[in-house]
Amino acid sequence: MDASPADALSPGTLAPDFALPQTSPGAPARLSGLRGQPVVLAFSPQDWDPSRAESLVHTRRLLSGAGFGGELLGLTRDGLWCQAAFADGPLAFPLLSQTDLNGGAAQAFGVAGRQALFLLDGDGIIQWRSVAAPGQKFRAEELVAGLSALAPAAETAQPGLSRREFLAAALGAALVLSLPGSPARAADSLTAPVGTNTLRPPVSTGTMPVTLNVNGTDYALQIEPRVSLLDAVRERIGLTGSKKGCDHGQCGACTMHADGKRINSCLALAVAYQGKKITTVEGLAAPDGTLTPVQAAFIQHDGFQCGFCTSGQIMSATSLLTEPVGPEDSDVREAMSGNLCRCGAYNGIVAAVQDARKGNSNASV
Ligand code: FES
Ligand code: FES
Repeated sequence: MDASPADALSPGTLAPDFALPQTSPGAPARLSGLRGQPVVLAFSPQDWDPSRAESLVHTRRLLSGAGFGGELLGLTRDGLWCQAAFADGPLAFPLLSQTDLNGGAAQAFGVAGRQALFLLDGDGIIQWRSVAAPGQKFRAEELVAGLSALAPAAETAQPGLSRREFLAAALGAALVLSLPGSPARAADSLTAPVGTNTLRPPVSTGTMPVTLNVNGTDYALQIEPRVSLLDAVRERIGLTGSKKGCDHGQCGACTMHADGKRINSCLALAVAYQGKKITTVEGLAAPDGTLTPVQAAFIQHDGFQCGFCTSGQIMSATSLLTEPVGPEDSDVREAMSGNLCRCGAYNGIVAAVQDARKGNSNASV
């Protein structure tokens, strides 16, 4: 018989011990043998196989949507261990898949018949959990929302979850959502501007309503939680000024502003940007077409050639005006280093940024 929601073990509870499969000689025989590091315990009907997993980009987006800004370079799994390579160092933690949803472990954790995700700390205490409704799969938006609530622990010394624990929880969530057939992989859905009729009914599974405020206008979308902010704005809303260069957070072509701060929108989950003011390059100029000083300076200084990177360069440069950046050209180059230009128009770009900073550009161009 399926467990009721009230049966699931709560955070703060010592996790019950159970026997582990022997994946290699010398591997711990029981859960308690893994003390000393965070452990992710996933009750899911399918085990995670890196060779079948959703792309690294998908996992990165989930991490980004959960508020973690570190760069994930790679993921592997070896027996019980999940190994993640981040730009600032590796992270390894046990990821235990329990595919028997009615087995002894599921019974002991009070989640029989349900998909569930638990994060245990180094003392074996449950620090976080997410439990799906009986007979249902994980709801991606609930996982993202739950992780977002924990996210400050990744950047601060907040009591409770350590950065390592938070990362393990986020990766565990990303991995269960990467399983074949998960809601995060469901078909794409529809878009409807606020205040207009929807032409077709929304796809019934895997999507959720999201309202994005872009350049001062609210757009009501029905999208999967995995959809990036870049794709939502380009493909659903139809504002194509922001470009998709690498889709990996490496080129800056997709740069937008969220509440005035520049972000790589290819790594941002649209669902995480509800309630924020999104600005794209289309939203910079005045309604009468008057360019901003940065836009005008790019024209004056030929800060582009083919123009593909230019919207991202302009969005970064506009944000740079309000950031603590030193006065030298080298300071500008450093601050703009996340925006690549294959045409090599860097001299013009730096000159344009410096001119705009000094207020020398002619905004009436
Ligand atoms: S497309 Fe986003 S950083 Fe390249
Ligand atoms: S102007 Fe061509 S990539 Fe920058």
